[in-house]
Amino acid sequence: MNKKLLLLSLLIIGANFLTAQTQKQKEKHQFIDSLINIMTIEEKIGQMSLFTSDWDKTGPTLREGYINDIKSGKAGAIFNAYTVAYTRKLQKIAVDETRLHIPLIFGYDVIHGHRTIFPIPLGESCSWDLKSIEQSARVAATEAAAEGLQWTFAPMVDIARDPRWGRIAEGAGEDTWLGSLIAAARVKGFQGNDLGAINTIAACAKHYAAYGAAQGGRDYNVVDMSLYSLHNTYLPPFKACVDAGVATFMTAFNEINGIPCSASNYLLNDILKNAWGFRGFVVTDYTSINEMVPHGYATDEKHAAQLALNAGVDMDMQGATFYNYLKDLNKEDKVKLLEIDKAVRRILSIKYDLGLFEDPYRYCDEKREAEVSFSKKNQDFANEVAKKSMVLLKNEANVLPLKKGLTIALVGPLAKDKRNLLGNWSAAGDWKKSISVWEGLQTASAGKNTIQYAKGCNLLDDQMLIQKLNGSGGDIETDARSQAEMLKEALEVAGKSDIIIAVMGESQGMSGEAASRSDINLPENQKIFLKALKASGKPIVLVLMNGRPLTLPWENENMNAIVETWFSGSMAGEAIAQILLGEYNPGAKLTISFPRSVGQIPIYYNMKNTGRPFDQNNKYTSKYLDVENTPLYPFGYGLSYTNYEYGKAILDKNKIHIGESVKINIDISNTGKMAGEEIVQLYIHHIQSGTTRPLKELKGFEKIFLEAGTKKNVGFELNSNDFASMTQDLKMICEPGKYEIMVGRNSEDLQKLNFEIIK
Ligand code: NOJ
Repeated sequence: MNKKLLLLSLLIIGANFLTAQTQKQKEKHQFIDSLINIMTIEEKIGQMSLFTSDWDKTGPTLREGYINDIKSGKAGAIFNAYTVAYTRKLQKIAVDETRLHIPLIFGYDVIHGHRTIFPIPLGESCSWDLKSIEQSARVAATEAAAEGLQWTFAPMVDIARDPRWGRIAEGAGEDTWLGSLIAAARVKGFQGNDLGAINTIAACAKHYAAYGAAQGGRDYNVVDMSLYSLHNTYLPPFKACVDAGVATFMTAFNEINGIPCSASNYLLNDILKNAWGFRGFVVTDYTSINEMVPHGYATDEKHAAQLALNAGVDMDMQGATFYNYLKDLNKEDKVKLLEIDKAVRRILSIKYDLGLFEDPYRYCDEKREAEVSFSKKNQDFANEVAKKSMVLLKNEANVLPLKKGLTIALVGPLAKDKRNLLGNWSAAGDWKKSISVWEGLQTASAGKNTIQYAKGCNLLDDQMLIQKLNGSGGDIETDARSQAEMLKEALEVAGKSDIIIAVMGESQGMSGEAASRSDINLPENQKIFLKALKASGKPIVLVLMNGRPLTLPWENENMNAIVETWFSGSMAGEAIAQILLGEYNPGAKLTISFPRSVGQIPIYYNMKNTGRPFDQNNKYTSKYLDVENTPLYPFGYGLSYTNYEYGKAILDKNKIHIGESVKINIDISNTGKMAGEEIVQLYIHHIQSGTTRPLKELKGFEKIFLEAGTKKNVGFELNSNDFASMTQDLKMICEPGKYEIMVGRNSEDLQKLNFEIIK
């Protein structure tokens, strides 16, 4: 076929595809319009009401009242209900017993896996591996979709720079640019290319917006920030979700500048729906409409419902404010039927896209449920992702990987733990099936090393904290033996060993929702234990499990090696053992800075220079008297068992005009003895601009694999658009002027090149 003919046939195929798509859209709109035309106002409000099911020890329960609401079409969506049997039962009520037979949509917090649990999102982000991040969301969606679910309340795309905030565990760290790429990857993973496919579920970008900037890192607290920061730092990952086609959005609990997010016309109508063109629906966070009363923004819940609906909220999660008041508000002309119809249209449209009208039971398939849930394939992949997420923070004298023939003392409150390593929000993951470090090490070191175990100390000894955590389902198990007895046993074991591996950290409940901490050290009793181990003189490898950056200056000074494993899910113990034994070479890098002290917070790599940048010879410069300005471990930092040498970075030109591109190249050599993966990072700095810019902004990275003794040339290309930044009147423009381009292994170890953009 000649080129013209080929082009013509491609155009015809394209046109036919477009016609078919338009026809499909037309059918959908006709279907939804005809449904809305016959719906009563109560039925419409029902579609806008989401209620939770409860799970008690014996299984799922839904309050009698909700069952009646489903029957009468007053509840259109249910969350925290899964398994084929249970969702089918509820769906049957909606489909068979309601006047209009509209199916329910089932939502759940599938945050980092459904049955097979992956590392917590913060940990996973340290892989910088967008494909694998997308794939883990895909696996989670496949498992969830086989169990009656069509909707996850993920990804959480809140940029967070305050590790006191427990929910930092749920996001992708501190950087807006990387966070946006990860947000889009997660949306694509959950939703695939087709929401109607049997193994995809609707994603939900949350928490809109700036929830991660809660004052003092205290959960649910006030956010007060300039529009400039909001648009520059906090909103881009949400926009990235819209661009990736995310089906739903969740409002945040917090207020911003005096307005609770669920009442923010600016955020919901002006930005999300109008400026960004978001076509899905907006759900609130749990009772966040009702919370406008204690916020001091609504006089009562009825007023709150009015404010929320008029601001652009489409669905009320759990608060029953639409359920109780929307009809009266409409009668009183405080909310227009047109606005209610708009919300219902958005919700029904997602139900339609999910194929629920075609077959309400398509997500209920016992065979699929049995096949995909926690399959061997998914477990293997979870192991791979876990290994990709673990960051080697210190490795003095190459104490890791462990040599053969050693007697190892495995100690610490998390060494045999199976529950905590799943992390917070572990969906339907069964902790009894997860692999502890103890089990992982036994398997991996069989025939190589001898492992002796002693717990050494409890996870916590602060009774008040234990009570608080257990009260909210924290499951802190405390050994009945005294601290002294446990310590004695551990020191004996350590005395008979060549090396100590101490598995320490937080409980899973110490991060996540409502889990802010003002002190982010290792719990004091664990530290006392570590100090006693240190006194034994044996080398110590500290294996950390935690949901946030911790302050580790003492540990950094005194431990021989430190591996940050986060809470890395079902296969954590296996993955950790493989790293410790050198079956896998760690390559992850931090997506969040680790402060030296809590007083440095907020601390993040893309700080600005200030008018008085730090100068050690000048007292009157920006600094602390008692701690350095820099973090202990910077953004982008992570070690490997091999060494990478960076060549000289080269620009193909040192000036470009607006609209042109510049190429940056650098040779990276693996000069060590093991193959491995290195994350090469590229940053820019706009030296002088109409609005001051951070000293460093990540704009590119390449994750490369290098065999020992080999070299690769890594190339980046930046267009002038990549240098664009936001003006005070919120326009993205590329300003001509002097820039720096920086390439290196982390945000502090960089080569700088001068560069200019001209008109
Ligand atoms: C409250 C949390 O803030 C939100 O992230 C979660 O999705 C909902 N509860 C539902 O569980």
